[in-house]
Amino acid sequence: MGKYHVSGGRRLAGELAIQGGKNAVLPILAASVLNSGESFLTNCPNISDTRYTVKILEEIGCKVTREDGGLLVNSNAADTFEISETLVRKMRSSIVFLGSLLGRFGAAKISYPGGCVLGLRPIDQHLKGLRLLGAQIDDHQGFLNCKAERLVGADIALDFPSVGATQNIILAAVLADGTTTITNAAKEPEIADLARFLNSMGADVRGAGKATIEIHGVPRLHSAEHRIMPDRIVAGTYLAAAAMTNGELVLTNVSGDNIRPVVAKLTEAGCTVTESGGGIRMTAPPRLRPISLKTQPHPGFPTDLQPQFTAMTSIADGMSIIEETVFEARNNHIPELRRMGADILQVNGKTSVIQGVPQLCGSNVVSHDLRGGAALILAGLAAKGKTVVDPSEHVMRGYESIENDLAALGADIAFVE
Ligand code: EPZ
Repeated sequence: MGKYHVSGGRRLAGELAIQGGKNAVLPILAASVLNSGESFLTNCPNISDTRYTVKILEEIGCKVTREDGGLLVNSNAADTFEISETLVRKMRSSIVFLGSLLGRFGAAKISYPGGCVLGLRPIDQHLKGLRLLGAQIDDHQGFLNCKAERLVGADIALDFPSVGATQNIILAAVLADGTTTITNAAKEPEIADLARFLNSMGADVRGAGKATIEIHGVPRLHSAEHRIMPDRIVAGTYLAAAAMTNGELVLTNVSGDNIRPVVAKLTEAGCTVTESGGGIRMTAPPRLRPISLKTQPHPGFPTDLQPQFTAMTSIADGMSIIEETVFEARNNHIPELRRMGADILQVNGKTSVIQGVPQLCGSNVVSHDLRGGAALILAGLAAKGKTVVDPSEHVMRGYESIENDLAALGADIAFVE
């Protein structure tokens, strides 16, 4: 495990192309099990979560090779519906293999997933949807043993627009008999990217990205290729980094379409954001204005950018209020920001009142989860002196090379083993 060493005070300026989306590629890799042919996926982010998911595919019997800048998955020889606990525990997204293994084999056996500690993260909506499709699920001692003689289309109303549950149900429904309707479905853009990939394999998924999704079951899927959408959370992370350093940033391959609330909040904070040719240009003021935001399911402000915007507002000129409504405990970054001199009052564990300070102080801080770790790196960029963010493993799950990206914009940052 390594650490990030950041020396603050540098203004970020420059141009970046954003990596492929972590939360897009993971369910799409799981979906590649559903076709017995080949899936050629380009723009896959080279992050540890992708590498772990490839190991899961290989454990199932798929052959995965890196070719021409993409991942070629051949699922013809896939013959196992059981995934080892150590791999499943590496990340939360492994849970969507339930849907694709059930769709391919009519069976699945995996342990409860791991992933960032952001609260309880139950999977009741996943299990409810799969059971309605006809799966028998034995939930015992932290293992999920699933069987389905036949998967039959059903009407499924989610209690919460869960991203993972929406993905799991879609994956189990594409080869089911008949039509499945998901109401109160998650509308995150990654759901639409998954549907684009599935439909390119011959599936019939309609309305992905909207609150009601219809999946018309088909008998089989065929080989396809797909380009993974850019990572909107990485894009928002770097926009916040530039905003915190009076910087100027051009993102060449991300439009504002998938991060509209983020662009709105940057503008409220005093940044100038223009969009052209599928990219975004942002110029930050010398000092940011305070803002208030509440995280919500898409198209609301994304919870995955809450830690980064908490760091950003900690040096704004006034009081900001940030409310986390999606996860009940996405606040491990706050004590660490306080160590750096941030003035953050936590009200009822989900709402932060942030009194901006003129400057943070470089410190040794602990990264407890992926986006919290990224937030601490951003805080280090704007702090006086040196910050060490330890360990690096969480951040490496979602960012190909945050240190190279930020250094390319002028940051003084290094990854140290
Ligand atoms: C996905 O997680 C993302 N992960 C998360 O990104 C993201 O924060 C989240 O969606 C919300 O956008 C991947 O795509 C791999 P949820 P997921 O199911 O699917 C509750 C990152 O930093 N819930 O929409 O786990 C749950 O506890 C990661 O990239 C239930 O109660 O999110 C949470 O409070 C972090 N029962 C809320 O819903 C369920 O059955 C949102 O969860 C499922 C979820």
